[in-house]
Amino acid sequence: MPTPTVKLFSQREHGHLLPVIAAIHAACIVRDQTIATFLPPLKGSKIQKFWEDIAKETDLGTRFISILLNESELGTKAKELELVGVVTLSMPFSETGSFRGFVEKLFVSPTYRGRGGARALMCHLEAEALKRGKTLMLLDTEIGSQAEKVYPKLGYTEMGRIPRYGISPVGGLKDEVFYYKHLQ
Ligand SMILES: CC(C)(COP(=O)(O)OP(=O)(O)OC[C@H]1O[C@@H](n2cnc3c(N)ncnc32)[C@H](O)[C@@H]1OP(=O)(O)O)[C@@H](O)C(=O)NCCC(=O)NCCS
Repeated sequence: MPTPTVKLFSQREHGHLLPVIAAIHAACIVRDQTIATFLPPLKGSKIQKFWEDIAKETDLGTRFISILLNESELGTKAKELELVGVVTLSMPFSETGSFRGFVEKLFVSPTYRGRGGARALMCHLEAEALKRGKTLMLLDTEIGSQAEKVYPKLGYTEMGRIPRYGISPVGGLKDEVFYYKHLQ
């Protein structure tokens, strides 16, 4: 199995892939019932606009995006890379917390699960975070989600739970669990 490739998103090089990122985001909401900003009915255009705005933040330096690329079938004449996952690190301005980063929107395509994609994305994100002086990672996810199993395996420590935190795509309020990780 080829090792997944992870790259830093750049508007110039990868801007045309924003609709693919939006489609993976939508698939996670519809297929996995992930709580991720939007509720059905999902209009592709509103999720795509969201990612266009996120991409603008990469130019401002308040966020970066790591993208997971899978080499298409070996043996095809041109080596093509297909985008199969994404994660972002938000780095809002703070003089007192300049070393903090907020991990947001970790999505791996349902067609690429269980192949080390999330681990590779988070490893890339943490290396890029360190380059920017971000040493404390913070994130949260829904209790009972697949991601709840993943983050402790990647070295994240649970810091607490909030009942009735977010509205599920299938209705009802779901509980959330919060994690942190010191990179140094
Ligand atoms: C959560 C998600 C990102 C995991 O992606 P993935 O590429 O399948 O994860 P990986 O293959 O990299 O697995 C990473 C580790 O977690 C473990 N893992 C992954 N899914 C798991 C599951 N459902 N149950 C238990 N462990 C799991 C793997 O075994 C692996 O551990 P290891 O490296 O020690 O063997 C993916 O399922 C997803 O996109 N879900 C929907 C969106 C979502 O919930 N995002 C998080 C929002 S906070």
